[in-house]
Amino acid sequence: MAKEIKTIAVLTSGGDAPGMNAAIRAVVRTAIYRGVKVKGVKKGYNGLLNEDIIDMAPRNVSDIIQRGGTVLGTARCLEFKKVEYQEKAAEICRKHGIDGIVVIGGDGSYRGAQALSRQGINAIGIPGTIDLDIACTEYTIGFDTAVNTAMEAIDKVKDTSSSHERCSIIEVMGRHAGYIALWCGIANGAEDILLPENYDYNEQEIINHIIESRKKGKIHHLIINAEGIGHSTSMAKRIEAATGIETRATILGYMQRGGSPTAMDRYYASIMGSYAVDILLEGKTNRVVGYRYGEFTDFGIEEALQMQKDIDRYQYEVARRLTL
Ligand code: ADP
Ligand code: F6P
Repeated sequence: MAKEIKTIAVLTSGGDAPGMNAAIRAVVRTAIYRGVKVKGVKKGYNGLLNEDIIDMAPRNVSDIIQRGGTVLGTARCLEFKKVEYQEKAAEICRKHGIDGIVVIGGDGSYRGAQALSRQGINAIGIPGTIDLDIACTEYTIGFDTAVNTAMEAIDKVKDTSSSHERCSIIEVMGRHAGYIALWCGIANGAEDILLPENYDYNEQEIINHIIESRKKGKIHHLIINAEGIGHSTSMAKRIEAATGIETRATILGYMQRGGSPTAMDRYYASIMGSYAVDILLEGKTNRVVGYRYGEFTDFGIEEALQMQKDIDRYQYEVARRLTL
C-alpha cells in the first residue's frame, strides 16, 4: 500500500525560468487545499543539504504569479550527484517530516528527484527550463516568455539594422537546444538560423546568402545564432570582411531568462504544479509531469530521460523557405 503523504516540499533547481513562481504557488495552494502541509526548500538541492527549509502557507505565495525568477532561489549542486549526499538529503527530509517532494527544473534536476525517490522520498518533477529541451513534453515552463522576450528585442535590433542596411547577428540562449533560435528565426523573419543541433553550418553559404539577398533588394540580413554555436562577434567581423556589408553582433544573454511570465507560462505552470501534487498524493513517485497531444500527463523519470527530441526538420525547412 502507498505510504500516506502528510507533508510535501517544493524546490526549484537548475536555471531559473519565468513561470516557476506560478508553479510554486500552485504546489503550495494545492497541497493546502488537499489538507497536506507544505514546505519550501531554498536554493535547490543545496538548500536541502543545508536544511534551508521553510513552512509555506497560502499567503507566502501571494503576489508572485506575475514575477520572473523563482522566489525559492535556485542553484546547481554538483555534490548531489553523489549517493552519500542523496542519502543525507533523504535523512533531512525524514527529519523535517517531508514524505514527498516536487522538483521544478530540467532533466538534470530529474536525476536528483530520481535519486531521492530511490532513497524512499516520493518525488515528482515538473519541466522548468526556457530551452524547451525536455523530450517527454511539448511545453516547458519559461520557454514562451523567453521566446517572446527575445522576439521583442530582435524586432528592435531589426529596426536599426534595416535603417542602416546592415547585417545583424543576434545570439539567443540555448547551449544545447535551438528551440529559442528556431522560434525567433520564424517569428522575426530571420534570413539564417544557426542551431546547435546543426553544428557543422557553413559560413561561406551564409556569406553567399547575404550577397544574393542584397542583390534581390533586401536591405537587412538577420542571422539568429544560438548560444551553443556562439562566436557571434568574430563571425560578424568575418562576414563584414567577406561581404563588405556592415555587420553587428548582439548577444541577448540573461535578459531572456527574466521578466514577468506570459499568460501561457502562468497557466501551464499552475496546472502542472497542481497536477504534480495530485499524483504525489495518489502515491506516485519517480515521475515527471508533461504536456503532450493536448493533455497534461506524467511519465516515469527513467522513461522520460531515455526519450529523444530533435528540431523538427519540416519546421526548420519552412524557416528557410520564408527567407525569399
Ligand atoms: P537542469 O535541471 O536545468 O537540467 P542541471 O543539469 O544543472 O540543470 O541540474 C540541476 C541540478 O540537478 C544539479 O546541479 C544537481 O544538483 C542535480 N543533478 C544533476 N544531475 C544529477 C545526477 N546525475 N544525480 C543527482 N542529481 C543531479
Ligand atoms: O537552461 C537554460 C539556460 O539559460 C541555457 O539556455 C543556457 O545555456 C544556460 O541555461 C546558462 O546557464 P548558467 O545560468 O549556468 O549560465
